[in-house]
Amino acid sequence: MKEGFRAACVIGWPAGHSRSPLIHNYWIKQHGLTAEYRREAVPPEKFAEFVASWGERGYIGANVTLPHKEAALELSQPDDRAQAIGAANTLWLEGGVLRSTNTDVEGFIENLDAATPGWDAGLASAIVLGAGGAARAVVFALLERGAERVFVANRTFEKAEAFGARFGKRVHPVRWGEVNGLLSGAQLLANATSLGMTGQPELDINVSDLLPSAVVTDIVYVPLETPLLAAARKCGLRTADGLGMLLHQAVRGFSLWFGVRPEVTAELRALVEADLKTGASAEK
Ligand code: ATR
Repeated sequence: MKEGFRAACVIGWPAGHSRSPLIHNYWIKQHGLTAEYRREAVPPEKFAEFVASWGERGYIGANVTLPHKEAALELSQPDDRAQAIGAANTLWLEGGVLRSTNTDVEGFIENLDAATPGWDAGLASAIVLGAGGAARAVVFALLERGAERVFVANRTFEKAEAFGARFGKRVHPVRWGEVNGLLSGAQLLANATSLGMTGQPELDINVSDLLPSAVVTDIVYVPLETPLLAAARKCGLRTADGLGMLLHQAVRGFSLWFGVRPEVTAELRALVEADLKTGASAEK
């Protein structure tokens, strides 16, 4: 191993379709670092052992994707947001201690800040579709940004109800069928379900009922322009797409591992867009 060499990786099972290597290796090259970002396919039963001995491979940190996000939380000392969300997607070493966070929070917020500035001015009411791990990060982010009311709608209502218990009084669980009735009062609509992804059914939402000033965002980035975003744009609404969130969520991990804060540039976005056009997967 070269002196000063540092490595990070994405750990998944499978890990083959992750775009994280493309993103981080772009930044490594841009900053002239003696480093490498790799892909590691690790089955669940080997995850703890892999992380315990990763130093032997030169690793100083990692992204964690399905199905390891809960295990990563268990094995590490999480920050407040990873703890609140119940899942970690980024691991790093701090004074010999394995730490974890969930960078989907700032990925969601910073993507909106960049694509739709002012989206959070007087944020009284937001609607989040979905109640899985991604939705937990989105709801946490909206509460942290000061949203007064966050309506959480999910096909399985019980999972939306659990958000009330987890996140407190500003979160209002609603049934899926209630969403269209809430649109006219919402400033933000965020899709955190897999609906609209290539191969999945589309969302059935009347975006034309949203306020003209409302912002629509989607965590799905395959296709890049989901039917939801396309409909919102057609109505003249401002939008922020899932690829932007993916790129922005990568910034903090890179900063933690390599000590440089990288930028989400148009060139990086074009690189990942080109890769998405040739690849078929929607996995991070
Ligand atoms: P992630 O960690 O990416 O959020 P997840 O935990 O599997 O993934 O959550 C997927 C979300 O998409 C859930 O809110 C799920 O709804 P259920 O909780 O009812 O399963 C939602 N979802 C997936 N397929 C759906 C469909 N066909 N109709 C409605 N919601 C769907």
